[in-house]
Amino acid sequence: MSNIVLQVENLHTSFFTRAGEVKAIDGVSFYVREGETFGIVGESGCGKSVTGLSILRLLPEPAGQVTEGKIILEGKNLLELSKKEMRAYRGKMISMILQDPMTSLNPVYTVGDQIAESVRLHQDLPENMVEAEVVSALRLLRIPDPEMRIKEYPFQLSGGMRQRVVGAIAMSCRPRLLIADEPTTALDATIQAQYIALFEDIQAKTNVAIIFITHDFGVVSRICDRVGVMYAGKILETAPTREIFKAPKHPYTAALINSVPQLDKKDEKLFSIEGQPPSLLNLPPGCRFYPRCTVSMDICKEQEPPEVKLDDNHSVSCWRVK
Ligand SMILES: Nc1ncnc2c1ncn2[C@@H]1O[C@H](COP(=O)(O)OP(=O)(O)O)[C@@H](O)[C@H]1O
Ligand SMILES: [Mg+2]
Repeated sequence: MSNIVLQVENLHTSFFTRAGEVKAIDGVSFYVREGETFGIVGESGCGKSVTGLSILRLLPEPAGQVTEGKIILEGKNLLELSKKEMRAYRGKMISMILQDPMTSLNPVYTVGDQIAESVRLHQDLPENMVEAEVVSALRLLRIPDPEMRIKEYPFQLSGGMRQRVVGAIAMSCRPRLLIADEPTTALDATIQAQYIALFEDIQAKTNVAIIFITHDFGVVSRICDRVGVMYAGKILETAPTREIFKAPKHPYTAALINSVPQLDKKDEKLFSIEGQPPSLLNLPPGCRFYPRCTVSMDICKEQEPPEVKLDDNHSVSCWRVK
C-alpha cells in the first residue's frame, strides 16, 4: 500500500462567537494515502469547508480556532509550525481548489500571469523557464491551445475552463495534497463529468493525495476511493466507496445515498431527509443524528454512540451497529 500523506487525528475546531462556542468540528479523524482520493460528504453546514480550512490553517482568526487534535502531513504536525513555516507548506505541499472559480481568479490579470505568479512563488525556477512551466500546468489540466490561453483574461473563459485554470494554479506548486472544496458544484452535468475525469488524470500523472469535498454522493461514487460521511461536525461513517454504496451501515449514510437521483429510475420520487441538522452552539446529549433518525432507540437520545470498527477500513458510530 502507498504511503499515508495526511493523517488527521481527533480534530476539534470551534468558532468563539458572541452567542458562545460553535463546535464546528467535534473530533474528526481520517487519513489520505498517496494517489488516493478521500471524500468528505455531508449536507451544507456540517463542517466540510472548516475541515479543509483547519488543515490549511486558514481559519478566520481570531474567532476560528483548532482547539484539539493533530494534523500530520508527511510526518509533521502542521499545528506545531510557525506561521512562516506554514506559509511555505501551503505553497509547496498543500493547495486548495474552491467552489467558485471567480473568487480565486483575479479579473485584471491574464491567466498566464496568474499561473506564473504561483510558479515563481512556489518553485525555484530561472525566469526563462517560467513560461514553459505555466504551459505545462495548463496542459496537465487539458486546456487546449495553452500558448494562446495564457494571454486571455478570466472573463474570456467559460465556467468550466476557468475552473481548469484554478486547477492549474493549484497544481503548479506540485503539491503532495490537494483539497478540492465542491469544485464541481457550480458546473453543469457534462462539464462536471469532464472535470472529474480530469482529476483522475492529474492523479495518475502526479500521485497527489486528494481530499474531495462534496454534498453529492453521486460525485463521491465517481471519484472517491474512500469516503467519510460528516454530520454536525463529526464523521459518522468511513468506508471504501464501493462498500458504503453496497452496504451503508449508518442510517444517515443510507438516507444520503437514497437521495441521489438515479438515471435509470427517473420516475421515482427522490427521498429527502426530514428536519434540520442540530445547532452546533449547544449540541444535546446522545447521537447528533437522533432527532432525524427513523430507526432510533431510547439509548440514542441519551448517549453518544462510540465508533465501532467493522474492519480496518470501515468504521461507524451508531448504536444499531455492534
Ligand atoms: N465564520 C464563522 N463563524 C461562526 N461559525 C462558523 C463560521 N464558519 C463556519 N461556522 C460554523 O461551522 C459550521 C460548518 O461550516 P462549513 O464547514 O462551512 O460547512 P460546509 O459543510 O457547508 O462546508 C457551520 O454550520 C457554522 O455553524
Ligand atoms: Mg463548504
